[in-house]
Amino acid sequence: MSQKVREYYQRDFRKDFFTAPELDRAFGYALAEHMAELIRDFGEPVLLELGGGSGVLAYDVLSYFREKEPELFERLRYYIYDFSPTLIDIQRKRLKDFEGKVFWCEHLFPFEGVVFSNEFFDCLPVHVVKEGKELFVKNGQEVWLELEDERVKEMLKRMGYEGLSQIVEVCVDCVEFLRELSKNLIGGYHLVIDYGYTSQELYRFPEGTVLGYRSHRVEKNPLKSQKPVDITAHVNFSVLEEYGKDFGLERVYLKSMRDFLLESSAFVQELEILGFSQEPEDIERFSRLKTMLLSMGDRFRVLLQRALSSNS
Ligand SMILES: C[S@@+](CC[C@H](N)C(=O)[O-])C[C@H]1O[C@@H](n2cnc3c(N)ncnc32)[C@H](O)[C@@H]1O
Repeated sequence: MSQKVREYYQRDFRKDFFTAPELDRAFGYALAEHMAELIRDFGEPVLLELGGGSGVLAYDVLSYFREKEPELFERLRYYIYDFSPTLIDIQRKRLKDFEGKVFWCEHLFPFEGVVFSNEFFDCLPVHVVKEGKELFVKNGQEVWLELEDERVKEMLKRMGYEGLSQIVEVCVDCVEFLRELSKNLIGGYHLVIDYGYTSQELYRFPEGTVLGYRSHRVEKNPLKSQKPVDITAHVNFSVLEEYGKDFGLERVYLKSMRDFLLESSAFVQELEILGFSQEPEDIERFSRLKTMLLSMGDRFRVLLQRALSSNS
């Protein structure tokens, strides 16, 4: 599966994803406003974005800082970590205005600030398991084999999922990535935005959450598809919280994206201005903000973790 995702983003990028920042800049402004408070006390803070997509989120965040927080803007450096040469190229073009402020990195590095992502963890591969068996695809056919991977077994046990008689998706890579980023986060925060669930909500997905997208359509059998597909699985936020504790990451909050956006004065201001306007463009933007709040607002969650070594 990871190979398929890599191929999709590297060779056959068709912009199948419409993410919240793609919908409207108000999303990036809300995030920037929040991150400004998180990094204010750091001398030379870093904002590290995992999975930059088309670069639109970086553009909106940096635009907000330049306009509303010029002093912080001077002090910060913005990094994007991404594995897709095609997308990095698109990001570089979009972010031309911010030359000297934004950089790209192939590996994580020690820093103070905020490492954050929107729709990154859902791209990482999952193991699909049910009642002691794991799903594999061999010669285009799905086969359930005895579960042998010790890391998956350990995670099922620790999360209390062993006795469940439903499909459970286990993202070992999510935990490995969390370990890696926490090692490098000397001080500051980890902020994740993604669609996902907690252990208490697992029962809502008895058939699992793996989905494929191709040319804006849902691909029913993404694992069997011969063509590059954007494969995603909902993020298990309880796993990020539980394993985060091992890596010195303490939960600050976990909330719905709707609550996160409605608590942001930058977002609410945009909403109010657009709500009173009769301009066709504003009416369209207003409806996109409503989409963010209504159809994405509950499915997407925001998790903030603090590095315990942090002075903040
Ligand atoms: C769905 S896009 C999200 C884009 C952006 N954050 C947004 O909100 O518009 C996922 C991004 O993560 C990157 N990505 C996915 N898996 C990755 C991995 N394992 N390592 C590095 N980048 C990855 C992709 O290349 C892409 O830029």
